[in-house]
Amino acid sequence: MESLTIQKTQAAPPCTVVIFGASGDLAKRKLIPALYNLVACGQGLMPAESAVLGFARRELKVDEFRKSARDWTNRFSRLKVDEGCWQSFAEGLDYISGLDHPDGFIKLKAKLEAIEKARGIPPNRVYYLSIPPDAVRDSVARLKQAGLIADPKAKNFTRVVVEKPIGHDLASALDINRILLENLDESQIFRIDHYLGKETVQNLLVLRFANNIFERLWGARNVDHVQITVAEAEGVGTRAAYYDGAGALRDMVQNHILQTLALLAMEAPVSLHANAIREAKLNVLQALRPILPEQARSHTVRARYGAGLSDGKPVVGYMDEQGIADNSRTETFVALKTYIDNWRWSGVPFYIRTGKRMPSRASSIFVQFKDVPQILFNRESKVPANLLTIRIQPDEGFSFDVMAKRPGLDLVLRPVTMNLSYESTFGDGASPDAYERLLLDVMDGDHTLFPSGQFVEKSWEFVQGVLDSWKDDSRVPMGEYPAGSWGPKEAEDLIRSDGRAWHEP
Ligand code: BG6
Repeated sequence: MESLTIQKTQAAPPCTVVIFGASGDLAKRKLIPALYNLVACGQGLMPAESAVLGFARRELKVDEFRKSARDWTNRFSRLKVDEGCWQSFAEGLDYISGLDHPDGFIKLKAKLEAIEKARGIPPNRVYYLSIPPDAVRDSVARLKQAGLIADPKAKNFTRVVVEKPIGHDLASALDINRILLENLDESQIFRIDHYLGKETVQNLLVLRFANNIFERLWGARNVDHVQITVAEAEGVGTRAAYYDGAGALRDMVQNHILQTLALLAMEAPVSLHANAIREAKLNVLQALRPILPEQARSHTVRARYGAGLSDGKPVVGYMDEQGIADNSRTETFVALKTYIDNWRWSGVPFYIRTGKRMPSRASSIFVQFKDVPQILFNRESKVPANLLTIRIQPDEGFSFDVMAKRPGLDLVLRPVTMNLSYESTFGDGASPDAYERLLLDVMDGDHTLFPSGQFVEKSWEFVQGVLDSWKDDSRVPMGEYPAGSWGPKEAEDLIRSDGRAWHEP
């Protein structure tokens, strides 16, 4: 069958991408490799004359920055590093220090002008704020003071990318959104959530709205419940300084999981335009039922990993990881149950769970359909209900469990799985990394895959309710699960008390 091209990705206009916090984990693992892949030979989606400028606190020679960027790209790039392509990319790679000081922004201005002159490119600028939420306020204000933010209607663009977490609670998220809007126009702000750049998450729209079969079944009439599991095998690693102040609810649920849930549950947007999709998603959050303090115990579970196994090797528990405060109350696992109080989803529970140090890195959405009536085949023994599994990662794709008759003279029913794997259907290496997709969209000025300010605030509202309930330790005690397991017993109880069970992703 023919493919239908709905939108073709164009090469982005030439620009300079300034990475604030260029020596941080995100820049190393994701941003630099993604930018390299966009420039790399054959792709050419980012013009070769574009530049990448690292901006951080400490002094570093440009050559040292280029050298470490090369090491990071070797380790983390999707495409193998080609010597010629690297040389061309590295020529556009520069570095300055001074992120922690107003004078640094004066230096930044001069540096940008010098780069643009030398490379013959217009002052199109992307400022990627890969810095902690508390530092966003100062950076944005300093950009403004230094005259580094162009008028939104100007010929050349200024775009600011804000990494998650946007704030650490509702109040700070509101504050950050306010600061952003005081200094920038909404059209210049890109709040990033890398889950929206993942192929399968984007495919949710296609699955739902390019296939009549699913959309007709999508809702309370046919769906028993929905589960979203985002499991990670990694522990806290080297990120204790950030993670111990955040925890699984803030780190994963407030952003990635609620974004995924909104795409899964939203009504059909009136068009594929960014604003239409953002509005449809926001409507889901507006209908999301808050978890009240008195429900916190039956609707939420929090826990942290104890010692156990990862990949067959012994690993320490969270409290023994380096950099974790002795009195830490940070959860590395959360499970919760919520509802979307609108006509489509009325009464359908949505179960969510996410955690670190689980048995594998595996994220899936499960849409469990209702049982067939207790007549015909479903009379004496229970016929398993249909299950649609959308695999976000790894082995991206989806499968549908249906019942079939086993060939033979006896009437034997067996569940069979119809499976689509992206890799075997579309070939290996077809999927760009989420950051490649999203960085390109920023350069193109396309907001479709970026959360709106309102969405961020609404999702914090929901999460804040849970955080407030958890302040009282006795209300929802902190559980523990052995590293390498699917979470604490309480998470099993949460879903089992409704007569259901978690599916393994
Ligand atoms: C990040 C979180 O946003 O997402 C990390 O801060 C988490 O804690 C990561 O490990 C998971 O992303 P992915 O793409 O590996 O599923």
